[in-house]
Amino acid sequence: MEEIWLKEAFKGEVPNDFQGKVGWSSPSNIALVKYWGKKGKQLPQNPSISFTLSECRSETFVTFERAEQFGFQFFFEGQENPAFGTKIEKFLFDHQAFFPFINQLHLKVESRNTFPHSSGIASSASSMSAFVMCLLEIEGLLVGPSTGSGTLDLQKASYFSRLASGSAARSVYPKMALWGATKAYEGSSDEYAIPLGNDIHPIFKTFRDSILIVSGEKKSVSSRAGHGLMEGNPYAPARYAQANENVKNLLTALKSGDLDTFNNITESEALQLHALMMCSNPSFILMKPNTLRIIEEVRRFRNETNIPLCFTLDAGPNVHLLYPEREAEKVNEFIKNTLSNYCVEGRWIADHVGIGPKKLL
Ligand code: PMV
Repeated sequence: MEEIWLKEAFKGEVPNDFQGKVGWSSPSNIALVKYWGKKGKQLPQNPSISFTLSECRSETFVTFERAEQFGFQFFFEGQENPAFGTKIEKFLFDHQAFFPFINQLHLKVESRNTFPHSSGIASSASSMSAFVMCLLEIEGLLVGPSTGSGTLDLQKASYFSRLASGSAARSVYPKMALWGATKAYEGSSDEYAIPLGNDIHPIFKTFRDSILIVSGEKKSVSSRAGHGLMEGNPYAPARYAQANENVKNLLTALKSGDLDTFNNITESEALQLHALMMCSNPSFILMKPNTLRIIEEVRRFRNETNIPLCFTLDAGPNVHLLYPEREAEKVNEFIKNTLSNYCVEGRWIADHVGIGPKKLL
């Protein structure tokens, strides 16, 4: 793949009057089978599967104009914020062979998230994929869109989003995505994610994700450090084997609409992610007491009502509640009456499976 993108790169002179503004909104995603542990150049140790969200998004605009040399400014929520832009700048520097034209451009990047900064929700998947969509559109204005059909090549967007921030590879597709090579799905790759939307039961296409904000604090371990800790983790080989097995079984359950298997695998994956962090060296406990209280309540509610509600966790204390749309009324009652008591200021975000990135300009 690398060779194709390198060959296709626009290596000519950027016209003197080349200037404009592009904008993309891209969603966050929540992994069901988790990516935790990487190898080589930002490649996953195991395949992962996610829901693409709808409401939790980054909206990014890039204003570009011809310049003598590369220029870069980053604004976050209206304020110039060079620190937040460092990751993008580094990504551009590291991958200039693919995008040599940036050395003849001044870029002003303006980004905002639709979810509050203090909600403990990681924004790298949404913000990096939104930026990559903008970058590919600028490239498209120079060479013509790579698909030739006037739309962006999502596989390429996924490939470069992955290089910017692993899980961002999965944010570019509607509904669901699979990232990482697995024998269980033809066409899967470590280098980019692929869409799963055509291979899932209708019940999953409108799934809900209510995100319970247990803590709005910044994560105590960055995901870069977390992935790194898998290298010395004695359970790593067993974990990677288990994740492969879970991907295989989840793919079958997604196709048939088997909610019991879906719930079993999803909850087990969340707990494994946290167990891996607890037994790494140094170790991290990222759940809070209220995370555990919510988990207990969710399991009690499911047993008592038979409503197929399950939870998953990111690398932090907040709880994602996953359930079919048809159960929304009962689950919302449960959240309002019981679970919101365990949330910071009773806060939670109502999200659902979404359609993927949207062009803003
Ligand atoms: O994309 P990163 O490097 O921020 O890693 C994401 C890791 C998890 O969110 C914990 C799991 C996942 O697959 O999204």
